[in-house]
Amino acid sequence: MSDSRTVSVDLGSRSYDVVIGAGLIAEAADRIGPLLTRPRVAIVTDETVAARHLDALTAALTEGGIDSAALRLPPGEGTKDWANLSRTVEWLLDQKVERGDVVIALGGGVIGDLVGFAAAILRRGVRFVQIPTSLLAQVDSSVGGKTGINAPHGKNLIGAFHQPSLVLADIAVLDTLPPRDFLAGYGEVVKYGLLGDAAFFDWLEANGPALAAGDRGLRTDAVERSVQMKADIVARDETEQGDRALLNLGHTFCHALEAATGYSDRLLHGEGVAVGCALAFELSARMGLCAQEDPSRVRAHLRAMGMATDPTDIAGELPDADGLIALMGQDKKVIDGRLRFVLARGIGDAFVTDAVERETLKTMLEDVLSARAGVPA
Ligand code: GLY
Repeated sequence: MSDSRTVSVDLGSRSYDVVIGAGLIAEAADRIGPLLTRPRVAIVTDETVAARHLDALTAALTEGGIDSAALRLPPGEGTKDWANLSRTVEWLLDQKVERGDVVIALGGGVIGDLVGFAAAILRRGVRFVQIPTSLLAQVDSSVGGKTGINAPHGKNLIGAFHQPSLVLADIAVLDTLPPRDFLAGYGEVVKYGLLGDAAFFDWLEANGPALAAGDRGLRTDAVERSVQMKADIVARDETEQGDRALLNLGHTFCHALEAATGYSDRLLHGEGVAVGCALAFELSARMGLCAQEDPSRVRAHLRAMGMATDPTDIAGELPDADGLIALMGQDKKVIDGRLRFVLARGIGDAFVTDAVERETLKTMLEDVLSARAGVPA
């Protein structure tokens, strides 16, 4: 088998490996075969990913003597709904997927979340393998067992913790991503450096541009480091009673901006995470928690990568500061009516707090909303 790296997610009897390397889809039969009780899998993917990668996956499985059937769902966030969940579950039942079988989620975060949830509830739980095809899914959503769909009330409000049995992060598939999608995923990569590993952030400042330009070795290193950090956090706190909330750095701001932009192409999730991380550092600096230079350094790196750094970089109108704060109040991380933020004492040193004065938050948002695009507030 090809050169690859393996990160273990250590969860007792539910432990599993995340394998990272170029060319893993071609090795699917050897990688997945040992999990199977019979040589048959059901694959759920979306139409865009199917056009790029499904033939390669089914050919590799067939060559290894594994039969497969595939369901192609429409691409996009709108697919994470009840209608597509029931369609998926009923299709899996039509395929006669049994308790001992394995379902494969081939796609980005939407497919991974939806198919993971379908696997969690099908016959009270069947095993599933994640083959994440976006950078965001490789470094975040495919690892850690958060599965679910969206409700009219908000994102990811219906779901379950259901860990995969294996994750195959094929670095070669990142070559086919549109640059905007790759950079959105990079927002989650930067998040890991900012929340817990200053040396990784230094490394990203030095290597980010070459990594974005296509260097597979650097991409493998970045995915491995990100997944290792996530695996360590998930092993400590699988169901987010404590440390796992650190993975939400930038997300309170991001979710408000996503709601304000209608979950549309105006702002991809990873882009919102990047802007949210910059805002979290801006707020931390204003509260005297971290050095004044830290938010400028965060923005400078995102800008060097050609990414949005400030709310003013988002096309179209946004609500005012009060409007954004109201949207933050609808976030599922609100506890007893108090907003919770992940703030930082410095790059690589994040912590969770609800001790943020509304006036400080409001003034910060007013300043960044009125700043000219690209000019630090
Ligand atoms: N994406 C955040 C988490 O998995 O906890």
